[in-house]
Amino acid sequence: MKSTKNKRTSLLSRARRAVLGGPRVRTIADSHIPDENTGEYYSAQIERSMAKISKDAAFRYEFFGDFLKSRNLLAGVDDLLCVGCRNVFELEYFAALGIKNVSGIDLFSVDPRIKVMDMHRMEFADASFDALYAGDCFEHSKDPCQVASEFIRVVKPGGLIMLSIPMNHRTDEVDRVPFFSKEDLYQYFQGTKMEILLENLKKGPEEKIIGLSVGFKTGGR
Ligand SMILES: C[S@@+](CC[C@H](N)C(=O)[O-])C[C@H]1O[C@@H](n2cnc3c(N)ncnc32)[C@H](O)[C@@H]1O
Repeated sequence: MKSTKNKRTSLLSRARRAVLGGPRVRTIADSHIPDENTGEYYSAQIERSMAKISKDAAFRYEFFGDFLKSRNLLAGVDDLLCVGCRNVFELEYFAALGIKNVSGIDLFSVDPRIKVMDMHRMEFADASFDALYAGDCFEHSKDPCQVASEFIRVVKPGGLIMLSIPMNHRTDEVDRVPFFSKEDLYQYFQGTKMEILLENLKKGPEEKIIGLSVGFKTGGR
């Protein structure tokens, strides 16, 4: 029988090998696995994301870039955190818009601009960022209340939180949190005063709603 530690290690090596990874890709497992359940959560997330390591979701981040430009919000954003960025495409896009300090976090890192960190417990001081962007990442939360509280904590009061989530989607061990209405998302942010600036429902075939993009100013905690 494999010990718990060996089981976690082999799950994570499998994730590392999934695509390009190899041993040089740093993952959260190198520093922190609080318990087996979380280890399995991490390996499922890492494995799925690494399998799509070259994906460039330009349609997603460009939508938010257009929002920032059209509302003249870029001037107020010097420090932007991209949560669950996977690779550097969104980081490079926002930097090219003129945002001075753009960094990312994910459970693994393929570039020094991406810090290995769990969005449930980020290692940033309170009010570290003017804005936070999480493109199709919030639904991956193990504990969405905790993640929302962390998002609110690390963004300055009056700063911007920008999120996209899928809606009416099939949930599984990776895409974990179901959303059928915008209220299903907003309930997690009850801890702050939300000033909504952007709210866009995305429709798919037969007018079915398949996603939601939201931008709001947070009132802090
Ligand atoms: C669907 S991908 C989105 C990638 C990119 N933002 C985009 O728009 O295409 C979700 C990303 O969130 C990351 N992720 C999942 N759980 C996380 C966690 N607890 N902390 C940080 N990142 C996480 C995954 O590893 C993955 O790279």
